[in-house]
Amino acid sequence: MVTADNTPSFTRDIQPLFRESDRESMEFAFDLWDYQDVRANAEDILERLSEGSMPCDGEWPEEQITQFRRWIEAGMPA
Ligand code: HEM
Repeated sequence: MVTADNTPSFTRDIQPLFRESDRESMEFAFDLWDYQDVRANAEDILERLSEGSMPCDGEWPEEQITQFRRWIEAGMPA
């Protein structure tokens, strides 16, 4: 359940989770630092994060995946 107090925002909470190297590795498909690109690919990104196949060099800690899922559930605010 997302409340007004802890609603994640892309700029403040989500974009900083993606490293510059993540962005460079994924440029062939989308820009992980671009709000519209991440929004458009959010379900695919969540799937890869959840199954642990992305990032290719080590999976995210559960809190970060939860944060990304909460952001989707909140309607993906900018
Ligand atoms: C948090 C960081 C990352 C996220 C969210 C992410 C997400 C994704 C997603 C959603 C796809 C499927 C794209 C498509 O089919 O259009 C993908 C593919 C791919 N990613 Fe990433 N990625 C991340 C980091 C990385 C890194 C660090 C590498 C380094 C090698 C990498 C290499 C690849 C490659 C080679 C593919 C195509 C092959 C495949 O589908 O497995 N990614 N990634």
